Amino acid sequence: MNQNMYDQQKQDDIIDMFNNIAPTYDTANRVMSMGIDVSWRQEACKEAFAILQKQNLNIADVACGTGDMILHWQNESKNAKIHIANIIGIDPSDGMLSIARKKVQNGVFHVAQANNLPLESSSQDIVSIAYGLRNVINRKEALKEFYRVLRPNGVLMILEFMTHKNTGILASLMQFYTKALLPIVGGVISRNFKAYKYLPNSIDNFITRESLEAELQLHNMPIIFSKDYSANISSLIIAQKQDCISATKEQ
Ligand SMILES: C[S@@+](CC[C@H](N)C(=O)[O-])C[C@H]1O[C@@H](n2cnc3c(N)ncnc32)[C@H](O)[C@@H]1O
Repeated sequence: MNQNMYDQQKQDDIIDMFNNIAPTYDTANRVMSMGIDVSWRQEACKEAFAILQKQNLNIADVACGTGDMILHWQNESKNAKIHIANIIGIDPSDGMLSIARKKVQNGVFHVAQANNLPLESSSQDIVSIAYGLRNVINRKEALKEFYRVLRPNGVLMILEFMTHKNTGILASLMQFYTKALLPIVGGVISRNFKAYKYLPNSIDNFITRESLEAELQLHNMPIIFSKDYSANISSLIIAQKQDCISATKEQ
């Protein structure tokens, strides 16, 4: 098996896994995060709206899963008095999307992967990906796609569980929780222990926030906002597509 075939197989296995756990995904999520993820998501929306300062937004939520982030974009837009013109959810898992379609009234969803988005170039004000980038095997192609579909000055919002090299009591406790307890809790709820063992492994095999920021910079999306939450469990990164015209003028 060559590298491309190996990567394809790995990606297909991840998507199958999400199809498998889709019916219990939301319950497992809320129990495992004890509801804290709601505040991480709300903060992400608020920061992105504050950076953009714009109305009539086009938003694409990539790796949208069961649609939570779309509901948060809609709720927070009301609080911020921002009008969303179009919002679309994209995910390769039919199982996750079938739950999303039930939760988001009149939602628009497409089955697709992050590295091949069914969107026109320079069409989106916000591209978001919440706890999805770790699952994208071809991250480089995905970042190129995010850049392609964003309008100049549009923002990329990433929420993710990053790899941390930090030590200390709190970090050790969190590691114990994610490595030892989460797979059991998630496994019991979903009856799929393998899937919830994948979670801590995928965090371990992912990159640090600093490395991801360097990758975004390389893809012409400099970092505008970046912060770790709740003892570094979750990270928020907001990058902005450089307006090529003003970037040229500045040189
Ligand atoms: C942990 S879930 C996150 C779902 C949702 N964004 C949330 O915040 O709850 C990860 C999602 O990534 C999706 N995914 C896996 N591989 C992907 C890929 N190559 N491109 C886009 N999404 C992918 C899965 O189907 C799954 O729905």
